[in-house]
Amino acid sequence: MNVLVTGGAGIIGSNFVRLALAERAAWRIVVVDALTYAGNLENLAGIEAGFPGRYRFVKADVADAPAVEKIFAEEKPSLVVHFAAESHVDRSVLGPMDFVRTNVLGTATLLDAARKAWREKPGRFLQVSTDEVYGALGETGAFAEATPIAPSSPYSASKASADMLALAYHRTFGLDAVITRCCNNYGPYQFPEKLIPFMISRFVDGEKLPVYGNGMNVRDWIHVDDHNRGVLLAIEKGRAGEVYNLGARCERKNIDLVRSLLELLLKARGVAAEKLESRIAFVKDRPGHDWRYAIDPSKAERELGFRPEVPFEEGLAKTVQWYVENEKWWRDVQSGAYRDYVAKVYGGQTSE
Ligand code: NAD
Ligand code: TYD
Repeated sequence: MNVLVTGGAGIIGSNFVRLALAERAAWRIVVVDALTYAGNLENLAGIEAGFPGRYRFVKADVADAPAVEKIFAEEKPSLVVHFAAESHVDRSVLGPMDFVRTNVLGTATLLDAARKAWREKPGRFLQVSTDEVYGALGETGAFAEATPIAPSSPYSASKASADMLALAYHRTFGLDAVITRCCNNYGPYQFPEKLIPFMISRFVDGEKLPVYGNGMNVRDWIHVDDHNRGVLLAIEKGRAGEVYNLGARCERKNIDLVRSLLELLLKARGVAAEKLESRIAFVKDRPGHDWRYAIDPSKAERELGFRPEVPFEEGLAKTVQWYVENEKWWRDVQSGAYRDYVAKVYGGQTSE
């Protein structure tokens, strides 16, 4: 079975490729990735040798229709797992148009290529989405699949548009599309702009940890492997035209998470405890910063048998260890462009 995995050089896609090749012996995976700032071929190192004949990498932009149609013609996939996206909210505030292009036009391009290629022999399209499409929660409640879409950022609005297109292709053309909406991921190979690896890299560099606003915003966390196990279940057991929320019932206030990270880093790197708290800097809030996210995963639990396996404290400790041991990985990732971006976003904003 030929499977197209878009965005396979990012954190979730690369972990998915490893997991799926190991656990689905009949799969051959073709990764399609444009290698943007977030795509890193090192994330896929060893896969070709580990799974000979079952893996191919194609550098292509999912919004490039001729390139996408060529891949469909060459590979005749019966499954598309669509991870490719511009994925960072702060970047979408600085430059929304890349998000519209990749997340909206790119998804439309893939859906349309699939519609044309699958006229005779239908395949399945798995749209990997996010809980951020539901917007912000107050102190109580959780997102269910029936929660109205109300995105706050250009990132989440572009993902919501992509989801709507997938559902429209299902209703209009009968395309077999399934959507998963997951909460915040953590784990190895995450680009050090997202909260957890960003804070670890700042800590190691001896810099302040910039917590937005008062740090009381809540995110719901899941280990990337649990997310990917949910994606596999949705592929194999999900119903066409349905949305499945994926989460591990693990809400944390940002400030509490940053303090847990500091404690873990203290153990790993041996910094004096009294110096830790002074590392935190409350900075100007992100515009449109969603207050709280919480996923109700009961539909996925009920219909797919979804059961996250990684306890948060254990997963977080292993993740910190991974970044400490793989400093070369994240230093290599930090390109000049990334440095410029950090200066632009955080320059002069700390409260000191
Ligand atoms: P990431 O930023 O780590 O990786 C994105 C990958 O997509 C990169 O390899 C990049 O090169 C590739 N890409 C970007 N634009 C492309 C284009 N035009 N054509 C081809 N490839 C392109 O992202 P991630 O965190 O791995 O997220 C993967 C998916 O999961 C996204 O769709 C995201 O919306 C969704 N998601 C992420 C999270 C999270 O916490 N990270 C949570 C829920 C859902
Ligand atoms: P992030 O990893 O960007 O994910 P998302 O915005 O998609 O949830 O951020 C997670 C939370 O951490 C979010 O509430 C914003 C906050 N945050 C900070 O307080 N400081 C930071 O430097 C970053 C990157 C995020």
